[in-house]
Amino acid sequence: MSGTAATNAQTVTITLDGTNRTATLPLLHGSIGPSVADIRKLYNELGIFTFDPGYGGTAACDSKITYIDGDAGILLHRGYPIDQLAEHSTFLEVAHLLLNGELPNAAEKHAFDMGVMRHTMLHEQLRSFYNGFRRDAHPMAVMCGVVGAMSAFYHDSLDINDPHHRKISAFRLIAKLPTIAAWAYKYAIGQPFVYPRNDLGYAENFLYMMNATPAEEYKVSPILARAMDRILILHADHEQNASTSTVRLAGSTGANPFACIAAGIASLWGPAHGGANEAVLKMLAEIGTPANIPDFIAKVKDKNSNVRLMGFGHRVYKNFDPRAKIMERTCHEVLNELGIKDDPLLDLAMELERIALHDEYFVARKLYPNVDFYSGIILKAMGFPTSMFTVLFAVARTVGWISQWKEMIEDPSQRIGRPRQIYTGPVQRDYVPLPDRG
Ligand code: ACO
Repeated sequence: MSGTAATNAQTVTITLDGTNRTATLPLLHGSIGPSVADIRKLYNELGIFTFDPGYGGTAACDSKITYIDGDAGILLHRGYPIDQLAEHSTFLEVAHLLLNGELPNAAEKHAFDMGVMRHTMLHEQLRSFYNGFRRDAHPMAVMCGVVGAMSAFYHDSLDINDPHHRKISAFRLIAKLPTIAAWAYKYAIGQPFVYPRNDLGYAENFLYMMNATPAEEYKVSPILARAMDRILILHADHEQNASTSTVRLAGSTGANPFACIAAGIASLWGPAHGGANEAVLKMLAEIGTPANIPDFIAKVKDKNSNVRLMGFGHRVYKNFDPRAKIMERTCHEVLNELGIKDDPLLDLAMELERIALHDEYFVARKLYPNVDFYSGIILKAMGFPTSMFTVLFAVARTVGWISQWKEMIEDPSQRIGRPRQIYTGPVQRDYVPLPDRG
């Protein structure tokens, strides 16, 4: 650890049964949250590893960026509660906070916003990458490819040991992801790519590139721009989740930030992570009407069915997901702005939520709606095809990924990530020539 986690005289002692060998391990304390046994010397002292598939009980780093108390439903970025940030802040301000540790003052905010927005254009040659994809390619496949290709275009910011290079790479990633995402969408629907406009806000510019065409003027609704900004804030960072851990692991080898973020995008794609909001809409379409909810719930509870209630449950939140409430409110605002009075999907989602929240199965397992339960409905109402939902998540999470990557690179005690294993395969044996095999 970087030495920022304090230790005191308290220790944890592990005794190997049947021997008189013990290991005394330091207990580390963050600023809040549970204490952590430092097991780094365990192997040297007792010759044993720890086993923790899924890393549910393992801290892989120390970090000052995001704090989650899953039981209390608390999410803090650099100490600030997510609901306050979603209510009062902007996505770029939150990006500054995550990257640099503090909310910017007016001059810093201006410099940061300008710094990011000046990088929104893509190298013109990156355009040709899109033509290599089938029109029906999933936009996350396009995102993995084009973001990965960024390392072949921005050679002047690849030195991870140079703070200025790190800063420019962060600006480039935050600025260009909306352009890459919007172009993935335009390519799929066969419309011309729309170039970014730096006089617009971050979310506003994204909606502009998604929806405008060269044929006519397009004005982004301020309410929808604000809703999009809030969705981006709610997805900006979530400490050491699967995709962030992927970015850190890739980055721990010294790989360049564009390659690391491409790895994060790949990890985010799965339905258990970033693909969940897409899966929620597919699930709602499959259920069809409120009358079918009981049958669906019965299927979810049947362990042989492999069906899950998508948008419910979370590895860390076991009480409520603080982002879900804000998302629900935003959902109503967006539907109102768009003049959607009765949305059958929203009605179905709300009924499903009501029934699940009172069902013993979900109550006993502490399963509550997560951030994705409502975000899919908002995005669908705003005109995003379901295949773009995870892409949007990737745009937002790029800020968290690059902040976590930067923190890791700047940690002097950082070393390559390398988990161990319990080997359960065959023990050593001799090669058998083919004719002698039975
Ligand atoms: N529907 C039905 N049952 C569930 C669900 C669900 N959505 N989630 C968990 N359970 C059940 C499990 O079957 C298990 O039951 P058991 O104890 O009887 O075996 C119990 O609850 C614990 O589940 P785990 O799988 O151990 O929980 P874990 O923390 O590993 O999983 C996860 C978390 C992957 C998010 C899970 O809840 C899930 O698959 N949810 C649906 C997908 C989803 O919405 N993902 C988005 C997460 S948020 C994000 O990435 C932004």
